[in-house]
Amino acid sequence: MTTNRTTVEDLRTTLVDQLIHEGVLTDSAWREVFATVHRGIFVPYFFLPCRGRPGWRLIEGDDEWRHGVYVDEALVIQLNGDDNAAQAARWGQTVEGVPTSSSSAPGLMAAMLHSLEVTQGMTVLEVGTGSGYNAALLAARLSDKAVTSIELDPALAQRARIALTTAGYRPTVVAGDGAAGYSPNARYDRVIATVALPRVPVAYLEQTHPGSLILIPLSFAGRGGLMALLRRDQAGAASGAFLAQYGGFMAVRSVTEPATPKIRPQLLDAAYPTQVPPDALTDIHPAAFYLSLCCPYRYRTVGFTPDDNSTGLQTWGQATDGSTFGLTTIDGTTYVAADGPLWDTLETAYAQWRALGQPSRDRFGVTANPARQWVWLDHPDHVITELGEL
Ligand SMILES: C[S@@+](CC[C@H](N)C(=O)[O-])C[C@H]1O[C@@H](n2cnc3c(N)ncnc32)[C@H](O)[C@@H]1O
Repeated sequence: MTTNRTTVEDLRTTLVDQLIHEGVLTDSAWREVFATVHRGIFVPYFFLPCRGRPGWRLIEGDDEWRHGVYVDEALVIQLNGDDNAAQAARWGQTVEGVPTSSSSAPGLMAAMLHSLEVTQGMTVLEVGTGSGYNAALLAARLSDKAVTSIELDPALAQRARIALTTAGYRPTVVAGDGAAGYSPNARYDRVIATVALPRVPVAYLEQTHPGSLILIPLSFAGRGGLMALLRRDQAGAASGAFLAQYGGFMAVRSVTEPATPKIRPQLLDAAYPTQVPPDALTDIHPAAFYLSLCCPYRYRTVGFTPDDNSTGLQTWGQATDGSTFGLTTIDGTTYVAADGPLWDTLETAYAQWRALGQPSRDRFGVTANPARQWVWLDHPDHVITELGEL
């Protein structure tokens, strides 16, 4: 028992040291908070993909759990919006499904919390309580009464409340749709969403005051990992640039994700060369976020190298409008075959990004007012795209 406790302490200290070393935990007050709050209380189990077969396995209470909890990784804590998956896995059943909640990577949380620039006495609304870990970090830094956290899934909200109480924190945890904010505790000095929204909810403009900061991951077509840090102005609008940091968050549950792309090898018979590199579709490439921004419908991609080595890497994409495409690279040249308008949109966006001088994500930003929201480059007057309805 004593050995396990010591091991957990050591693992936690190692993680905090790593985040300090990487320059993510620069503020001494946040360092102390990360060293104090036990992520393990909030993530008593998590799911990892099974090895060599579909499905998920439950990691709980053993050495793999201890080492998994204290690394800088996001951990899946719920599948299909159903807490019974954990019980089924304990009974030895293989569980399948889509992640619906996770505890975000501590390094990403640290970067987001630093960018909020909180000081004692401020109030914060967190959207997407999930495990409750981030709400605990905020409560430890500010106070219980300073923090309101809202979670769509009532079972998760209840799980988080229990974990928070166990850890010694009592922020307000509300079950409800975070896109509506939580007006009873407004107005907030800070809003931090840990779930991606398609646009800035007007409620956040109404529930903040001039000078408040709103940090919100925005969920564009191919995702893109864009997080906007907006400052609310006197007129009730908010404006600000995207963070340089990539922040990949799951989208709010109301968003319909595209189906897994169909692999259609015969489509490649009609393939022609393209200048778009395959990694521009996978978030590794500095243009990937721009492709996401410019596509009017959501798309998803999968990549693999065929077992028979008939081609190099293949990337297949599918959008919610039914458009598909396949990319393959042979002898250093990338070829594409497409069905529907998705590919033309992505290819045009890639050419535009190059023509703009290959700008980085933090040169773009968002302005939101109750009537209109748009993404700009360098200045709100240089409009890149309008944001549609939530
Ligand atoms: C990445 S997790 C949040 C991680 C969390 N902050 C933590 O520290 O563990 C995203 C959460 O947002 C929740 N969510 C999804 N749609 C939502 C909505 N419309 N309003 C509030 N929460 C939502 C999900 O159920 C999920 O728990």
